[in-house]
Amino acid sequence: MNVAQLIGRKRDGAELSGDEIRAFLGGYTRGEIPDYQVSALLMAVFFRGMSDAELDAWTDAMIRSGVTLDLSALPGPKIDKHSTGGVGDKVSLPLAPIAAACGVRVPMISGRGLGHTGGTLDKLESIPGMDVKVDKARFLRVLDDTGLVFAGQTADICPADRKLYALRDVTGTVESIPLISSSIMSKKLAEGIDGLVLDIKVGSGAFMKDLERARLLARTMIRIGTGRGIKVKAVLTRMEQPLGLACGNGVETAEGIEVLHGRGPEDLREAVLHLTAWMLVLGGVRGDVEGAKALCLEKIRGGEALDRMRRVVAAQGGDARVVDDPGLLPAGKHRATLAAPESGWVARIDAFTIGMACIDLGAGRARAEDGVDPGAGMLLAAKVGARVEKGAPLATLMSGDGARLAPALARAAGAYAISPSPVAPEGSLIIEEL
Ligand code: URA
Repeated sequence: MNVAQLIGRKRDGAELSGDEIRAFLGGYTRGEIPDYQVSALLMAVFFRGMSDAELDAWTDAMIRSGVTLDLSALPGPKIDKHSTGGVGDKVSLPLAPIAAACGVRVPMISGRGLGHTGGTLDKLESIPGMDVKVDKARFLRVLDDTGLVFAGQTADICPADRKLYALRDVTGTVESIPLISSSIMSKKLAEGIDGLVLDIKVGSGAFMKDLERARLLARTMIRIGTGRGIKVKAVLTRMEQPLGLACGNGVETAEGIEVLHGRGPEDLREAVLHLTAWMLVLGGVRGDVEGAKALCLEKIRGGEALDRMRRVVAAQGGDARVVDDPGLLPAGKHRATLAAPESGWVARIDAFTIGMACIDLGAGRARAEDGVDPGAGMLLAAKVGARVEKGAPLATLMSGDGARLAPALARAAGAYAISPSPVAPEGSLIIEEL
């Protein structure tokens, strides 16, 4: 295979064959094709898109870059959820233990922060000791013992996605429907699940800014999943302002745990309950979403969901005390308050800008090899529709590096619009379902 020619053909709009795609991704996973050539092909895909046949071959090659799991020996339905990425989206953290407590097994393979969005793995790693780099044997053991497992792409499972994901994050090639679809679906199909709930984020803080592209992304992933024999439900959810009040790894983990205690912001609780409920419906635990939500609430109230979280954190080497005392999670010691410039009503909190301000604070990566500051992030004091007085706090910014506060503060200020007259809260969180 001549890689330069292959890149040129894709750049010029030709359709790549399945063999070419397999050879390319195989070569990349084995370290035979350098990042600069892969980056060039990703950019060509970004602009040219992929045919259905290309996308199927690409997804298949990503799955085959590692092992696929056979979960048939484990009793019960195996159902997962994946979000296309947002700001303040910590839904997976409470969702997985609630679903497990309700009788669904959740073998969850997640990603790290991507672009301006946060990633479940970075959030989980803010728990001291928590190990998300689990190999196949440990993955199966934790899943068997606790009903859920939180893991990342590894040398075993979807290694091609692990490498591509990090490369896309720093080469401006994230917001591509075929690249997002194949990234998500390869991880999910490698898990050996029976069903998948997709949370397709729409709006400023999402990769899909408008409804039409979000629908196309949903349909693309549904086609890939159902074509391979799993049940897929897509829920389109609003991502114009951050979800909940916390943005950043440690504070989001704390807020996610709050939901397991029956607390937490209303929009976050709604998203968690709705998406978990669909997992139960896909798994046949309940026949309808309302009945499934009632069961989730029962498991939260009874403490079973919290107990699952304690068990999975401990099983993955983490300090399970954080589950009962989320205050133990890291929160940056350098702080600054963003104050309302005038009295009025919060009319906009642009999620993309907040996500970028969190990266300024150290919560995300500028280069693939960068680490993240688990204590960096923001805590919002008011959401869209709230009344604020001049000088009152809109948000607290946190970082482990005091020098990062001023630029982040300036950026975060640009996320807000204050209206002199009352503002209706945003439309419903759940936009539509496919
Ligand atoms: N989540 C993923 O796992 N991959 C993407 O490309 C985007 C969101």
